[in-house]
Amino acid sequence: MQSGIKIEIVKQLTDNYSYIIYKKNTKNAIVVDPAEAEPIIKFIKKNNLSLKGILITHHHSDHTSGINDILKEKTIDVYSPNNKIFGTTKLLKDKDIIDFDFINFNIIASPGHTLDHIVYFNKKENLLFCGDVLFYYGCGRVFEGTMKQMLDTLNKIYVLPDDTKVFCGHEYTYKNLEFLLDELVISPNKGAIKAKCRNLIKKNGSSMPFNLGHQKSWNPFLNCNSRSYKTGIASSYENIGKISAEASELDFFTYIREKRNKY
Ligand SMILES: [Fe+2]
Repeated sequence: MQSGIKIEIVKQLTDNYSYIIYKKNTKNAIVVDPAEAEPIIKFIKKNNLSLKGILITHHHSDHTSGINDILKEKTIDVYSPNNKIFGTTKLLKDKDIIDFDFINFNIIASPGHTLDHIVYFNKKENLLFCGDVLFYYGCGRVFEGTMKQMLDTLNKIYVLPDDTKVFCGHEYTYKNLEFLLDELVISPNKGAIKAKCRNLIKKNGSSMPFNLGHQKSWNPFLNCNSRSYKTGIASSYENIGKISAEASELDFFTYIREKRNKY
């Protein structure tokens, strides 16, 4: 990146991601959604970084359980949307802007997966840290909010610039792609597409970050108004009578979200 900002992808637990955002020359850093403190502290020390804050997207423990041990190393601000989240010192809400000396973020409320969920968007570099709202080829489960809230949230993310680099909370890419190919599209190249994705993740160790513009074309949860998606699915044999090409955006979102829950 031109601004000298670097992002370290840190694997956590089974398939979670935390991210260390830092600037090489000033050594200032912040961390997003720490679940396990040890690899984060190790990276910070190894690179002589100075941690300035912890950013949290939502209250689930696989995004917050590392906060305590990080704070044992150094007292810093914890930015979160919910004062029940351990260590919270800066409570965030929609349209807030948080400013570190090397990067700033616009806060976008993004309820659906949880009611407190927020995402962090940096306009200058078009970076989005979106927790469990948008995944590569997928979206988060709707646990606390309504289907309508989740759809509205995804529509807010849809309007961000195409060249946004998305850093999400889990490595679900391959499973989401399998669902897309097996359940929602007709393609003669399914095997080749899956193999390409599997090899890419194996080679890079991660599918992060992904491009939002690409997902505007391919992620079914960002295409609930797409007539071609709906027509294709409605006309496939197993879906006759379950979903119509005339389905509303919300009905279609609900249909594919519930279908993905069972996949
Ligand atoms: Fe979550």
